[in-house]
Amino acid sequence: MSRYVAINGEMVREEHASIPFFDRGYYFGDGIYEVIRIYSGKPFMLSAHYERFHRSASELHMNMTLSYDEFAALITQLVEKNHLETGYVYIQMTRGIEERQHLYSDNIAPVVTGFAKESAIPFDKQKEGVSLWATEDIRWLRSDIKTINLLGNVMAKNIAKRNGAEEALLHRGNVVTEGASTNIFLVKNGEIYTHPADNYILNGITRQVVISLAKENNFPLQEKAFSLIDISENDEMFITSTTLEIVPVTSICGSINVTLKPGIVTRKLQASFRSKVE
Ligand code: PDD
Repeated sequence: MSRYVAINGEMVREEHASIPFFDRGYYFGDGIYEVIRIYSGKPFMLSAHYERFHRSASELHMNMTLSYDEFAALITQLVEKNHLETGYVYIQMTRGIEERQHLYSDNIAPVVTGFAKESAIPFDKQKEGVSLWATEDIRWLRSDIKTINLLGNVMAKNIAKRNGAEEALLHRGNVVTEGASTNIFLVKNGEIYTHPADNYILNGITRQVVISLAKENNFPLQEKAFSLIDISENDEMFITSTTLEIVPVTSICGSINVTLKPGIVTRKLQASFRSKVE
């Protein structure tokens, strides 16, 4: 059976879902999105996702038509209609439909779409770790906005895959920013570092959870950028995202070559994350 997807508040079978030809999302990538984890049929960190969605809309001067309650109801509907237990819900909002031109009308009505997807918790990656491919971050300077304009990320992820790595490690000059679809953490001499939540990275919800879990565990953490040359074999590194949670990094190739091992800080944070979910 096909899935139910959402278009402007209506639930339709995916094969009956269509988008108007002049949607600005299609011509300009003029839209925003969120990916929300579903555990046992319930959304995780829902209000943080709504807050970020709202912020993305306001940074792009998009008309925000969804209240928190409507956002939550849409996610619940997608979960229930599709009997989703473990997976995620994707919600997208484009600026709206209008003849193609850069200038948009003030009163344009957004198009909200969404779907649900089964996605198991990747316990094997969390245990074994993954490899990264280090490559220059060529994205625009507003990576803090969660827009559907993801070509820089798409290219980086595929360069990583072609080189046998699971994820890209993006760097601007020597400064490590984030992954193609993850945030990156370094544990060095007992201190945890991650890039500050400025315009160069997406402020991941999992990143925010990890920062609070580090506090609870009394692990010193600084939201401070680190560079490629800071990374050495004795360090721990891990990446975070809604779908991956916390996954250790076991090697980096590309701009640098380093082999690493999952360490006790990563393991403790993974365990704390699991408890928080449960
Ligand atoms: N990606 N950085 C980037 C560039 C991302 O695209 C993502 C998420 C993250 C992690 O954010 P969070 O912890 O909120 O998932 C960091 C989603 C999952 C995606 O595009 O599929």
